[in-house]
Amino acid sequence: MARFKVIVIFLSFLVIIWLGYVYIYSNEKFGYLVSSTSSSNTYSSKIYQKLNFDISKNDVFSFVHIQKTGGTTMEKHLVINLKNGNCKCEQSKKPSCMCYRSVESKEIWLVCRYIQPKWPCGLHPDYASLATCTPDFIRKKHGQKNYRFLYGTLLREPVDRYLSEFRHRQRGASWEGSAINCKGKSFEGQNPRCYDGEIWLDLTLEKFLACPHNLAANRQTWMLSNVSDISCSVKSLMTKVNYQQRLLSRAKQTISEIAFFGLLEYPRESQFVFEKTFGLEFDEPFQLWDTGFAKVYIDGVNKELIEKVKKKNSLDAELYKFAKLVFFERYHYFVTLYGHPKFRAPSSESRFTLKDKKKRRLKENLPKSKAKQETLKRRIKAERARQAEEN
Ligand SMILES: *[C@@H]1O[C@H](CO)[C@@H](O)[C@H](O)[C@H]1NC(C)=O
Repeated sequence: MARFKVIVIFLSFLVIIWLGYVYIYSNEKFGYLVSSTSSSNTYSSKIYQKLNFDISKNDVFSFVHIQKTGGTTMEKHLVINLKNGNCKCEQSKKPSCMCYRSVESKEIWLVCRYIQPKWPCGLHPDYASLATCTPDFIRKKHGQKNYRFLYGTLLREPVDRYLSEFRHRQRGASWEGSAINCKGKSFEGQNPRCYDGEIWLDLTLEKFLACPHNLAANRQTWMLSNVSDISCSVKSLMTKVNYQQRLLSRAKQTISEIAFFGLLEYPRESQFVFEKTFGLEFDEPFQLWDTGFAKVYIDGVNKELIEKVKKKNSLDAELYKFAKLVFFERYHYFVTLYGHPKFRAPSSESRFTLKDKKKRRLKENLPKSKAKQETLKRRIKAERARQAEEN
């Protein structure tokens, strides 16, 4: 009899191990990070059970646009693609829209770059700056009320994002004067520039990586953290181990608490999570990102340099890993409630499809338009002349 018990216990063990294996394997297939599922499986329920977002009442949604994460497209979706967002747009080339609580209401519920005034909280504010500015902006506009402010953002695989920011800078663009506040002053203003003069001439990836004050490094982490609470020096933030840990844990907290975040690599899942989170619906489906030209570029970059980029963005790598975990938890939370989403293919006339002309320019890393290209040439010429005079 005793021997029989031992055999039953042994067999039960085998079954448990097998079930565990099947469970882990099936999670892996959905892109979960197996090792840490247990530590965070309460986030989704904690947030979503209470949300009940209602644009007709006192909710306000504000978007944290981190550079080169697909934010521009997302903001366009918000203002021109919501079925029930009550957005009224002006006839202009770039979207310029106000999204009202109802057809009759004069009060807006959405704060993003494409409302009036444009960038109401300044250029690319980080989460902490936006969390101060949004309430101020709305209260100034509509008076003191018991609002609820909710935030959202998009994240992207960090190496791709960093290289995309580098390419953007190489095209002569910058985000000078971005509205990031650190202890009451401009964050940028408190850090030395990476270059002399008006424009970063002859920029290479090596130079971009070597600058210790470059805000591109771990941008997603610091923008979702709160630099005012840690340090206003980019160099210290990026090198002091205890600062780095504080940045990362604060950014993880933001990810766990923020009402919405999507991932550039998962546009359709991001659309689903957004729609279910807020009870809003998009007309045209989100599209897979066209990253062909970026991939061609990345494949051509020396492997050692890619390793350096990875090292430079190690906080973002960890944050992204964590975000992916939380994201798919939220996704499955909604799948459990509403079933799997029916993904639709975008129509060929979609307003969100990248035009061939633009694709070609991106591939060659040229500014958006011929006019912008001319401006860039002039700026480069002027800067070279200035430097020649100085020497
Ligand atoms: C960021 O830190 C500052 C300074 O400690 C604080 O006043 C502010 O409320 C914080 N913002 C957020 C969003 O945590």
